[in-house]
Amino acid sequence: MGIAIENLAVAYGGQRVIDGLELTIEPGSFFTLLGPSGCGKTTLLRTIAGFVPAERGHLRFGGTEVTHLPPHKRDIGMVFQDYALFPDKTVFDNVAYGLRARKQAEGVIKSKVQAALERVGLGHLGQRHPAALSGGQRQRVALARALVIQPQVLLMDEPLSNLDAKLRLQVRETIVELQREAKITTVFVTHDREEALAMSDRIGVMNQGRLEQVGTAAQIYREPRTSYVADFVGGANLVEVETMARQAGETGPVVLDGTAIAARAPAALAAGRATLVARPEDILLAEPGTAGTLPGRIAHRQYLGGKTSYKVVLDSGRVLAVDLQSGAHDRFEPGAKVGLGFDPARTLVLAS
Ligand SMILES: Nc1ncnc2c1ncn2[C@@H]1O[C@H](COP(=O)(O)OP(=O)(O)O)[C@@H](O)[C@H]1O
Ligand SMILES: [Mg+2]
Repeated sequence: MGIAIENLAVAYGGQRVIDGLELTIEPGSFFTLLGPSGCGKTTLLRTIAGFVPAERGHLRFGGTEVTHLPPHKRDIGMVFQDYALFPDKTVFDNVAYGLRARKQAEGVIKSKVQAALERVGLGHLGQRHPAALSGGQRQRVALARALVIQPQVLLMDEPLSNLDAKLRLQVRETIVELQREAKITTVFVTHDREEALAMSDRIGVMNQGRLEQVGTAAQIYREPRTSYVADFVGGANLVEVETMARQAGETGPVVLDGTAIAARAPAALAAGRATLVARPEDILLAEPGTAGTLPGRIAHRQYLGGKTSYKVVLDSGRVLAVDLQSGAHDRFEPGAKVGLGFDPARTLVLAS
């Protein structure tokens, strides 16, 4: 069942936090809302769930208007950052909760709950209480509880944020497997770009209550339409440059500190000031004076295992981050002069 959001506005006590939002989510797909804290992700998710009322606009599930339906009539399952399990109930009873509320027969409940627990790898822990589980296990219980009612829509609000790095990866894989298997339309909220890139069919990057860009992981990463998206999704170097007018998709020179370098414009641009977007892994370091490179000096070098991160200062004083695969390039010592090379296909120029 797809989700369609049209001209949505949401306010808290007269303060608009979402205004004129439009979004279509394909049936059975994994959609991620990505953005920094406070941009409105939770608000949008809770509006989809029905916990926060829409001030204006329409919300449809599979073509049916649900804008004014209470949460329990929307056929959703929800998973929260803090698990929200009932502490005084066993794992089994936590998962059984939604089925009991729907007055299903105890025999049916027993087999459905057991199957749901097995799917999240907790078939043997039904009689435990949440306090006797690890964070990762608690979140698996919450996932089983959300899925056991076979909802049409699964909503998850930063479900991995309270887990340590290793558990986060494991639960992430479980979520993706279950979603693919059940083909349940999913809206997943996170501020973690790696999670978003790894898990989603499509990602919506949010900025102050608006969707700044919606696309696949590759589109968001490779073809950011704004410097906000480039910065948030990729930690890109953003540098002010001068450009001539450009058509969408056109590659040509921009002027950075008096030197012309080639960059591609994903969207049409007017002549004048613009923002150059270069990801740290897309800049090359060469011997100083190499043709077509910009002069700089290594200010800082950090060995990170597979890659080495450099801070390079240009003659103008600008600092750029450059990541190189470790090994081949370790000859660039702090203090050394270098030439910076920009791959014209991967270096973008966007409206400022
Ligand atoms: N219950 C509330 N009452 C008033 N303002 C709220 C409430 N919940 C969130 N906000 C405000 O709405 C904005 C969006 O918040 P939220 O949706 O929680 O963002 P996110 O989940 O992206 O961190 C923030 O400015 C926040 O302070
Ligand atoms: Mg939130």
